[in-house]
Amino acid sequence: MSNAEQDEFVEQVRERSDIYSVISRYVSLNQRSGKYWGLCPFHNEKTPSFSVDAAKGFFYCFGCHTGGNVFKFLSLIENISYFEAVKLQAERLGIPLPTKKLSPEEERRRREEKILLKCNTLAQEFYHECLIKTARGEAGRKYLAGRGITTEIIETFKLGFAPDAWEILLTKLTQQGFSAEQIEKAGLVKRRNDNSGFYDRFRGRVMIPINDIFGHTVGFGGRILVADDNSPKYLNSPETALFNKRNLLFGLDKAHLSINSAGFAIVVEGYMDAISLVAAGIKNVVATLGTAFTPEHAKLILRYARKIIFCYDSDEAGQRATMRALPIVQAAGAEVFIVKVPEGKDPDEFIRNRGKTAFDELIKNAVPLIDYQIDYVLAHVDTSTPPGKIRALQELLPVVAKVTGVNRNEYRKKIATALVLEETVVDEEWHRFSTYRNPPPPVVAKKISAPIDPSIKTSGETILRMVWNDSDLVSYVMATVPLDLFAAVHQEILLWLKNCADSGKHPNDLNAEKELSAQAFEELSRILLRQTDERRAIDVEAFEDSIKTLRYIRLKKQYTDLLAQAEEYMQSGNPDYLDKLNESLKIKKAMDDL
Ligand code: GTP
Ligand code: MN
Repeated sequence: MSNAEQDEFVEQVRERSDIYSVISRYVSLNQRSGKYWGLCPFHNEKTPSFSVDAAKGFFYCFGCHTGGNVFKFLSLIENISYFEAVKLQAERLGIPLPTKKLSPEEERRRREEKILLKCNTLAQEFYHECLIKTARGEAGRKYLAGRGITTEIIETFKLGFAPDAWEILLTKLTQQGFSAEQIEKAGLVKRRNDNSGFYDRFRGRVMIPINDIFGHTVGFGGRILVADDNSPKYLNSPETALFNKRNLLFGLDKAHLSINSAGFAIVVEGYMDAISLVAAGIKNVVATLGTAFTPEHAKLILRYARKIIFCYDSDEAGQRATMRALPIVQAAGAEVFIVKVPEGKDPDEFIRNRGKTAFDELIKNAVPLIDYQIDYVLAHVDTSTPPGKIRALQELLPVVAKVTGVNRNEYRKKIATALVLEETVVDEEWHRFSTYRNPPPPVVAKKISAPIDPSIKTSGETILRMVWNDSDLVSYVMATVPLDLFAAVHQEILLWLKNCADSGKHPNDLNAEKELSAQAFEELSRILLRQTDERRAIDVEAFEDSIKTLRYIRLKKQYTDLLAQAEEYMQSGNPDYLDKLNESLKIKKAMDDL
C-alpha cells in the first residue's frame, strides 16, 4: 500500500467510525452534559473520569490523562499498533482492506508462520485439556495443587500437562492434517537420532504456554515434576520463526494494561514467580524466558510505562545477570529500579511466606539502578586497603559517569564516604577519568520548562477550543496575543491550527493525530473534552476574557520590570528613572483599560 493509499484508507475508516459505539463495546458509558462518561479502562477508578465526545471524535481520561481518537483507543485497549487498530475497525465495519501484493518469499513466510501458530495453539489446547480433564493429567494436577496453584490461575495462564508418552501430541497433530516436519518446525516434536521418525519434545511436564503480545501461544516452557540430575528443570521450545526469547516476555499479553495503569512493570526471572505474583493480585508483572533481559524487552515494556522494576533472586548468579543487562536497558530509555528479595528467596517463595503487603513494601523500596550498582561494587571489592579503594573507584567512576546533572555530585560524595576517602581525591580521579573519555550522550532528554501560570494554561485552552470550532479566528488570535505567551504545547497546537486555516484544511482528530506530537495530541483531546458548555455565546465571552487575561499577564510583567528598572536607576542616580516611571504608568493605564 502506498502512503497515499494508506491515508485514504484510514480516512475512509475514520469517516464511518462512531467513537461512541466503538468505546461502548468496552466501557459502559452514561450521558451527562453533552458528553459520555464512564470508568476509565486504562487505570483503576471508582468514579468515572473517562469521557467521550462523540461529535468531535475524541476521548480523554481526566484521571490518567490518556486521550486521543477512535484508533488510539483501539490500539491501547487491544494492545495493537495504530495501523492495526485501523485494520481492526475496518474489519468490524466490513470495509475491505486495500489488497497488498506480497512477494513470493513473504507469501511463503506468512503461510509457514500460520502453520506454526496453528500447531502451537492446538498443542496448548491439548495440554490444557490433558491437565484439567484426563486421567493422564493427574500427576500435573497434583504437582500444581502442591504448589498452591488454583484452578482459576490454571485457567488464566491456560496451564497444561504433557503426558509421559512418546508420540501422543505427534499423533494428535498429524490427525489434524499437519506433517511431522511442520510439527517439528513448530518446536513440538524432535527427529529420532536414527532418522526413523519423530517423538514428542515435551513429556511428563507441566506446560506453561508462552504467548506473543496478542495472546497467541508461540511456545512453551515445560517444568519437570520431580527434579532429576539427568534432565533440565525447565525445557523450553526451541527458537522458531515465532518463538524468539529476545523478543518475548512471559505474561505481557495479560499484564500490559496493568503496567500502563500502574506506571511500571515488575520483571521477574521465573515463570512461577510471575504466576505467583499474579495469583496474589499483582498483575503488572512479566518474566524473561530464562535469558538475560534485552533492549528489545525494554522496548516492549516502554510502550506501556517508563519505569521497570527488576525483582531478581538475591543469589550471586541472579545479581551478576542483573548487573550485566541493566545498563543496556537504561540506555534504551527506561527508568530502572531493583528490588532485592531478602533471605535468599525468589519472589514466588517470598509472596507465599510473607504475603502481598510485604511484597508491595519491597516494591515501594526499590532502589535506582545506580545505587544498586554502587552497592554491588562496594560489597564485592575489599575497600579496606589503598589498592582496593583505587580498584573500587575505577569500577565506580564509569557508573557515576552515566549520571547527569546535579545528582552526580551526590554520588561522588556517597562514594567518598563509603571508601573513606577525601572528596578531593575522588574529584581528582573523576577529573582524570572524565578527560580520557567523551561524556556520554544524555540517556533521556528531559525537558525542564519553567512552571506555567495556571491562568495562562486555562486561557490557552479556551482560546484553542474556540479556534478549533472556528478556524477563522486563528489570525485574530495571532494578531492580538504574542505566541510566546502560550504554554509550549499550546503554541504547537495553535501553529498547527493556523497551518490548517492557511491551507484550507479542516482540522479533525485524524490529521491532528498525524501531524501533532503525541503530547500535543493528548493535550488537544483533553482541551476538547473540557468544553463544559456547547453554547457559542458563552464561549465567545470566555474567549475574549482569555485573550484579555493573556495580554494582562504580559502587561503586568512589563510593568513590574519597568518599575524595577526605575528603582535601580534612581538608586544609582541615573536621571532616566523618570522616563522609566512614566512608561510604567502608561502600561498601568493599559492594564486598567483591559
Ligand atoms: P521453580 O523451581 O519451578 O519455582 O522455578 P522458577 O520459576 O523459580 O525458576 P528458577 O528461578 O529456577 O529459574 C528461573 C528461570 O530460568 C525459569 O523460569 C526458566 O525460564 C529458566 N530455567 C530454570 N531452569 C532451567 C533449565 O534447566 N533449563 C532452561 N532452559 N531454563 C531454565
Ligand atoms: Mn521458584
